[in-house]
Amino acid sequence: MKIKKAIFPVGGLGTRFLPATKSMPKEMLPIVDKPLIQYAVEEAANAGIEQFIFVTSRGKSAIENHFDHSFELENNLLSKGKRQTLKTAQEMLKIPGSFAYVRQQEPAGLGHAVWCARHLIGDEPVAIILADDLIYGGNTIKEMIANYNSGNMLAVMDVDKKDVSSYGVISPGNSNNNNITEILGLVEKPTTENAPSNMAVVGRYIIEPAVFDVLEQQNRGASNEIQLTDAIASRIGASNCVGYKFSEERFDCGSKLGFIQANIRFSIERPEMKQNLKNWLKSEIVSDD
Ligand code: G1P
Repeated sequence: MKIKKAIFPVGGLGTRFLPATKSMPKEMLPIVDKPLIQYAVEEAANAGIEQFIFVTSRGKSAIENHFDHSFELENNLLSKGKRQTLKTAQEMLKIPGSFAYVRQQEPAGLGHAVWCARHLIGDEPVAIILADDLIYGGNTIKEMIANYNSGNMLAVMDVDKKDVSSYGVISPGNSNNNNITEILGLVEKPTTENAPSNMAVVGRYIIEPAVFDVLEQQNRGASNEIQLTDAIASRIGASNCVGYKFSEERFDCGSKLGFIQANIRFSIERPEMKQNLKNWLKSEIVSDD
């Protein structure tokens, strides 16, 4: 089935990255030289997404500007003949009208953010991508779309049992050999004792339109927020609900450690940085012993 729209919830305050995120959206934090949100948009574009819907909030205008022309910069680069740099500055300018922005006026949870985009989604399944969850390779949502039939599909991965309280956690059922696992239950941020497994939801989803009807009820769950997990969980039984065990490497860029790891991982793949960085890392590790 073709999925044409993706929602990018980018309204979060980013308090874990203060003071960096006091006046800058956390989604604009760079991994090497590219903001997190651009990786997310590129992953969606690579999956054939044509409409990019951002749920923003106050103070997030840098995101809108990032996906627009910057005439002063572009003129400057053009006049200096810096064509390659100009290309880099322009590479994210999509077809006019393919980016839409809607405001989430209060931080009432991921489910609430997704619900804020409801008028921009028709009667069709939609992808959701959380830019904090950076996936090296950028094929996961594409693979999910290729495997999607109906209902709800969530990217899942095994995490340490001690970390389950940071995630939505699934109760897994049967698996097939395409990395698809049936989801029998789903709970947002359980305690270690109450977690049904250590298989956690990562920020890639395909949801059916009926999830918006559930979100409409505005029920509050964990952290007294409207949780996407709860809305999807309430559809189990009524429609298919499956986890997609993706194989690409994922970085939790909502945490400082994951963010630093992502920067190192992505830098090591850059030919111009690779050797110097490796040498430096080795010397750092040796001097730490
Ligand atoms: C959100 C979801 C959670 C999911 C996580 C993945 O939580 O609510 O179910 O496991 O993203 O990153 P958040 O990280 O926004 O607290």
